[in-house]
Amino acid sequence: MPSRCHLLLPAAGSGRRMAAERPKQYLSVAGKTLLQHTLERLALLPLAEQITLVLAAGDPWWPEVAAGLPVALRRRLQCVDGGAERSASVLLGLEALQPDAQAADFVLVHDAVRPCVALEDIRRLMEMLEHEPAGGLLASPLRDTLKCVDPSGYVASTADRRGLWSAATPQMFRYGVLLEALRAAQRAGVMVTDEAQAVEQLGHPVRVVAGRADNIKVTFPEDLPLVERLLQGGADATANW
Ligand code: CTP
Ligand code: MG
Repeated sequence: MPSRCHLLLPAAGSGRRMAAERPKQYLSVAGKTLLQHTLERLALLPLAEQITLVLAAGDPWWPEVAAGLPVALRRRLQCVDGGAERSASVLLGLEALQPDAQAADFVLVHDAVRPCVALEDIRRLMEMLEHEPAGGLLASPLRDTLKCVDPSGYVASTADRRGLWSAATPQMFRYGVLLEALRAAQRAGVMVTDEAQAVEQLGHPVRVVAGRADNIKVTFPEDLPLVERLLQGGADATANW
């Protein structure tokens, strides 16, 4: 791929919905923390040498995980303190890429808690976005019927699911575009829940690339056994870049 591509992993969340005794990226599944699974998988990508990892300031769990990583991987990591929201964490990660990153470079942002992402999907994402002026993301079409539910627990209406997709990560954008978009959202005080939303708000085209629906973002306790099974049986997801 002609443009250089930087890799950024936001891992500074506290996992409120998981409600575990530690942030969910530090829960162990199939013998390793979720963060280590994700890092090891993404380290197989043919991207810029350095990986920017955004961690909560003073994160007490990271040193032990770092010590257990393969040395070659540990050497590639640049750790940066994150912020209160995911978008703030990503912005701090982008700022740490200066002055090395060029505006036209791509940056691939991937949630630390999506360890099952298939490398084949990332390969396709990179291929499809190669000539995009802004970038895009992996997503999958919604499969369930959507219900709008009122506060008392009854169906208010059924929404039309046509054209609706679940946004996933990686999300990959030109460095200059993403930096400007996240700064603009921050200045305007607009909460954006993913990179794409910030870029959309600047009016840039954001391309959607269909990815596997099992690229699960570990969110609730019931996601853990599912992800464990996928990681144990998922050798094909990492084979053949
Ligand atoms: N994240 C981050 N900085 C934040 C919040 C989230 O870097 N201030 C990261 C998380 O660590 C995770 C990814 O963004 O890798 C996706 O966020 P999410 O699944 O929402 O994780 P949490 O915010 O930790 O979970 P919750 O929303 O349940 O508190
Ligand atoms: Mg969150």
